[in-house]
Amino acid sequence: MPAVVIVGAQWGDEGKGKATDLIADRIDYVVKFNGGNNAGHTVVIGTEKYALHLLPSGILTPGVVPVISNGVVIDPEVLMEELDALEARGIDVSGLVISSHAHLITQYHRTLDKVTERFLGKRQIGTTGRGIGPTYADKINRVGIRVQDIFDEGILRQKVEGALHQKNHLLVKVYNRRAIEVDEVVEELLSYRDRLRPLVQDTALLLHTALEDNKTVLFEGGQATMLDVDHGTYPFVTSSSATAGGAATGSGIAPWRLSTVIGIVKAYTTRVGSGPFPSELEDEFGEFLREKGHEYGTTTGRPRRTGWYDAPIARYSARINGVTDFVLTKLDVLTGLDKIPVCVAYDVDGTRIDEVPWSQSDFHHASPIYEYFPGWSEDLTGIREFDDLPQAAKDYVLALEAMSGARISAIGVGPSRDAIVTRHALLD
Ligand code: IMP
Repeated sequence: MPAVVIVGAQWGDEGKGKATDLIADRIDYVVKFNGGNNAGHTVVIGTEKYALHLLPSGILTPGVVPVISNGVVIDPEVLMEELDALEARGIDVSGLVISSHAHLITQYHRTLDKVTERFLGKRQIGTTGRGIGPTYADKINRVGIRVQDIFDEGILRQKVEGALHQKNHLLVKVYNRRAIEVDEVVEELLSYRDRLRPLVQDTALLLHTALEDNKTVLFEGGQATMLDVDHGTYPFVTSSSATAGGAATGSGIAPWRLSTVIGIVKAYTTRVGSGPFPSELEDEFGEFLREKGHEYGTTTGRPRRTGWYDAPIARYSARINGVTDFVLTKLDVLTGLDKIPVCVAYDVDGTRIDEVPWSQSDFHHASPIYEYFPGWSEDLTGIREFDDLPQAAKDYVLALEAMSGARISAIGVGPSRDAIVTRHALLD
């Protein structure tokens, strides 16, 4: 089945790299279809460690075509930095393909991201400050700058003028910042033109042709379901479509091609930034998960909020994305706990609610209703067969599977790339 999507099933940082690794040898194209350099993943190949924020992980695999499709917002400065850094280490990046329709993050988007967050005070989202929200806002407002615009200087200038006309009023009069010069922005964008030209294509056509030729295309979702602009905990979300449907609109391929949807779910829950999180822990168990799971942001370094597994969220994600297989990550982090609580439903002002409530106010008030599972103390990191896991760990996985709305096909048991237990093949 040629079109495969990988999405985060919680609030991000579930460890999608593990799932990518599992199917890497079957993949011909890797597509980043949403978000921008707000994501962050570390890829370890041999003894080399690569930190990528914008580029799809496929850039490191010879023979795989990495694609940045139309749903992505690109900060060209960051793009150049990441390409330079990889080239300096001998990686051939010439195979990268970029959509002409993708929108560009400019300095005024980054500035607006930071000042609007400050202005929101205690209602702030806790964004990564990379200009993601303002760039998507401009796209929807039809005042965005697209990759193709930098190849038509006249159009580029017109568009930047149009955008800055309004934004400079805002920056100067509301936020007390200096106005941004049209020339400054245009010159900077034009400086990327020669480097970008050979990389830009109609990526929707490229991917359509690849799929018609029976190539295998992996769509790698940035962020996660609960951060999706439509289906997440709005307004505490990112500004893009991080769910499986976003792979179709964000790349221009037909939705029916997405035959395998892999949801990545951590054996507990984390989130960065503000917003509701019913099973959040603010005690020594929260600290245990943070320290043992190294739960600090790859992009911002912020400590992540931590909590127990939330089954209604997994079920919600299974439904919204049409998850065919879950990959459960970081099971080993739970080793050493006497008992492991799992949030199975919520108590909202005295009423039991079994699914994610449709009202954000209710979700804010929701307290977790826990079921408790026995823990285990054995080290899991060397185990590769499900049957070799301690009985309590197997029971925990099977209980999560029964509650989460799709089968758990693989289980991460340690930080190394091969520390994984496979129960069902992810691709036929
Ligand atoms: P933005 O994407 O920078 O606008 O931030 C919006 C929200 O999404 C904030 O709560 C961020 O912390 C969160 N966010 C964005 N990217 C990621 C990610 O890759 N992992 C986890 N959270 C993220």
